[in-house]
Amino acid sequence: MIEKINDLLRRVEEFKPKASAEIEEFRIKVLGKKGELNALLEEFKAVAPEMKRELGQKLNQLKTRALERVNELKQQAEQQPENQKTVEDMTRPGSNDPLGTRHPISLVRNEIVSIFSRLGYTVAEGPEIEDDWHVFSALNFPPEHPARDMQDTFFIEKNPDILLRTHTSSIQVRTMENQKPPIRVICPGRVFRNEAISARAHCIFHQVEGLYIDEHVSFADLKQSILYFAKECFGENARIRLRPSYFPFTEPSAEVDVSCNLCGGKGCNVCKGTGWLEIMGCGMVDPNVLEASGIDSHKYSGFAFGMGVERIAMLKFGVKDLRLYFENDIRFLQQFESVL
Ligand code: PHE
Repeated sequence: MIEKINDLLRRVEEFKPKASAEIEEFRIKVLGKKGELNALLEEFKAVAPEMKRELGQKLNQLKTRALERVNELKQQAEQQPENQKTVEDMTRPGSNDPLGTRHPISLVRNEIVSIFSRLGYTVAEGPEIEDDWHVFSALNFPPEHPARDMQDTFFIEKNPDILLRTHTSSIQVRTMENQKPPIRVICPGRVFRNEAISARAHCIFHQVEGLYIDEHVSFADLKQSILYFAKECFGENARIRLRPSYFPFTEPSAEVDVSCNLCGGKGCNVCKGTGWLEIMGCGMVDPNVLEASGIDSHKYSGFAFGMGVERIAMLKFGVKDLRLYFENDIRFLQQFESVL
């Protein structure tokens, strides 16, 4: 009898159903009223008394194990009904790999570039690790001039002539050195400033700057180009206003505000009740800057402008914290346009 018990125990352990219906069949066959276990119990009644203790224990173990095994198998089957179907149904469509989305900074940079390319601007690029000449000196920042402190610069310790560019105006200098007017370039790129990271400032951000040099370029051209940009970027109803400002490389210089696109200029908490949002700096290129790059300032004049991409993206998408752009939190990024 002990062999019969062991044999059944082995079959219980080794049983592998091919479909979930087989589990129930197996249960009836082993544990059912007329099943093998009951047959063994019947046999047990006739066993000699000195064998009863050992065999009784074995039978109990067998019963517990058989019940456990059936329950285990049933649970497994319940968790996988879908998988089994997928394997069986070869006609089901495949699952698509999730697609990424474009980063909001890329979206806005591309949009700015596309708006200015409609005005005839082409893209120019330059190195992120620059020298003093292209970032400061050629742009009319004399040595020791306090305007150098307007932007907190990362210098290379061993050679303070080498630094991380604080603005993409350095690309404009490189363009003026290498091309003859007329020049019409847009310079997107990453810039670096030694600022404490907060919701409103970061040590890495992106700029798009522009430069237009030709004969008879006037402040009116500058204003009209920026108005065109504002309307394309923020909508037909956008208005602009220019406030006098200071940059070493432009004279006169101005700060550009655009009417708040959230409240339409009435005043809200984004524009702090003023109805206006600051979006860029601009001005007529200082003759010293033209001359430093070998352009005749008596024959040619030009304008330049520069804006922060993060800032424009904040205004367009209502992003309240700059740090979100760099954290790569998928929940943030997924809200933007898909790559397709
Ligand atoms: N380079 C300036 C900055 O980084 C922006 C600017 C560009 C201002 C061109 C005027 C003209 O702040």
